[in-house]
Amino acid sequence: MIDFKQEIANTISNAIEIEAKELKEYIEIPKDSKNGDYAFPCFRLAKELKKSPQAIAEEIKEKIKIDEKYIEKVEIAGGYLNFYISSTLLTNEVLEEIENQPQYGSSKIGKGKNIVIDYSAPNIAKQFHIGHLRSTVIGGALYRIYKYLGYNVTGVNHLGDYGTQFGKLIEGYKLWGEEYDIEKDPINELTKIYVRISDLCKKDESVLQACRDNFKKLEDGDEYCVSLWTRFRELSLKEFQKVYDLLGSEFDSWNGEAFYSDKMPEIISILEKTGKLVESEGARIIDLEDSGINTPCIIEKTNGSTTYATRDLAAILYRARNYDFDKALYVVSYEQTLHFKQVFEVAKLLGIDEKYTNGLEHVAFGMVLLPTGKMSTREGNVVSLNELLQESISRAKEIIEQKNPDLEDKDEISKKVGVGAIVFNDLANSRVKDEIFDWNQILNFQGETGPYIQYTYVRTKSVLEKAGIAENMKLEGVQATALQDEFSQNIIKLLYNFTDVLVQVTDKNEPSILSRYLIDLAKSYSVFYNENKIMIEDVNVKNARLYLTYAVGKVLKIGCNLLGIQMPNKM
Ligand code: ARG
Repeated sequence: MIDFKQEIANTISNAIEIEAKELKEYIEIPKDSKNGDYAFPCFRLAKELKKSPQAIAEEIKEKIKIDEKYIEKVEIAGGYLNFYISSTLLTNEVLEEIENQPQYGSSKIGKGKNIVIDYSAPNIAKQFHIGHLRSTVIGGALYRIYKYLGYNVTGVNHLGDYGTQFGKLIEGYKLWGEEYDIEKDPINELTKIYVRISDLCKKDESVLQACRDNFKKLEDGDEYCVSLWTRFRELSLKEFQKVYDLLGSEFDSWNGEAFYSDKMPEIISILEKTGKLVESEGARIIDLEDSGINTPCIIEKTNGSTTYATRDLAAILYRARNYDFDKALYVVSYEQTLHFKQVFEVAKLLGIDEKYTNGLEHVAFGMVLLPTGKMSTREGNVVSLNELLQESISRAKEIIEQKNPDLEDKDEISKKVGVGAIVFNDLANSRVKDEIFDWNQILNFQGETGPYIQYTYVRTKSVLEKAGIAENMKLEGVQATALQDEFSQNIIKLLYNFTDVLVQVTDKNEPSILSRYLIDLAKSYSVFYNENKIMIEDVNVKNARLYLTYAVGKVLKIGCNLLGIQMPNKM
């Protein structure tokens, strides 16, 4: 498709001899289309040109040579130059691209760039809870969107499969393994064992010592300990997979914390050589005061064992070497902000290229709040993600049964709607915001929700079906001139901006930009549908409106799929 931003940047550049590349970055898309399709904010050049924005606007307008094929008119408003794109050209561009590109909106912008996304990362033998849901959903959306833009993406599930708790679990299982059916209900049964052994450890110092010994044995590769650990891990993963199947999550690597256990000595030795690894109260730490971080990073505990941070450092080194990443994203709750600040700072001591340390980014997100408060393990009110998804599915089914009792495949559809509702809710707002979890809102078919977008998609399907169009509609004979009304044009402009929206998502690692866009697109279609009759006598107009309906359906589906939401054909 024609890159109109580029065309405008070139046009201005020819007039004032500033590089088009710089100018392009300044160009905005006005909120109100009355102010044109693109706006150039002249104040951005005020310093450089030593003139007022108004004067710059006038000068540019005077000097530019407009190619009328692209641009209908240019107007000055305040310190802005507003550009109006030829709407027939724009319409034709969009429709042809819809016709010819099954992967509408995809791009090669990321070609040759490697992105590592560390997401989900639940802890073995513990509940996969709603806090991990956000990581899985946000990380999954980013994973798909980066890929769609041509990046080479590696999704890593950095499982919490290491640490002293495994020494305890092994001890508990040794003592009472027979009493628990860990094959049937692994997470809950292992949790029970863990709670029971932890209690015993508090009462009996020798049991605690046995647990510590187990962990040491595990680290040293003791056969019995390793085989139990492997079993706990496999059973847990099988449980987690139920959630991943529902969400459609994909990972390229399942290297969890344990994977780095034999890579720790190298980290310690590199850090030793920097002279910055110092003793403090029996532990070994790196002081980060000089970098403005008041809490030191603990590299080795008093008992000589390594920490969560050391394992993350080993992971950085490993990922730099094996994935040669341009960006490594960590989709983890903002509760771990300090942890990542420390780790990213210490990573500068690992002797890796600056490219890598500059590419590290904590993609933080807010808490999920139940009306009753935070959902967390520490407070005991853990909500399991599987239960939550199942509840959403059954609530969706109730609503669907009421609305459309004769529908076939209700189970399949409820699954898409129930899961989609939760996924969308997780991505609806800027990720750093805490999220309030409210069933009535999440499943409201009229609200700004997943089901609302799915519903709009289903409507496009049924419009096409009534017109006798089965799957792909053909563009042949559709005339752009029949789509010049404002409701159609609003949609055309949104469709044109799709790639730009995806690029913005990756610029900010913020999938909510796509969620907002899909809401806007669905709303614009609802307005279009209410204002413009589709099945009318005039064949030209009818066909054009049907094609636009088809285009909206196509982009809603692609967009939702990128977020991790499946589309029902009926609901
Ligand atoms: N397992 C950790 C937790 O549940 C999250 C791990 C995030 N990834 C990382 N590389 N630290 O809190």
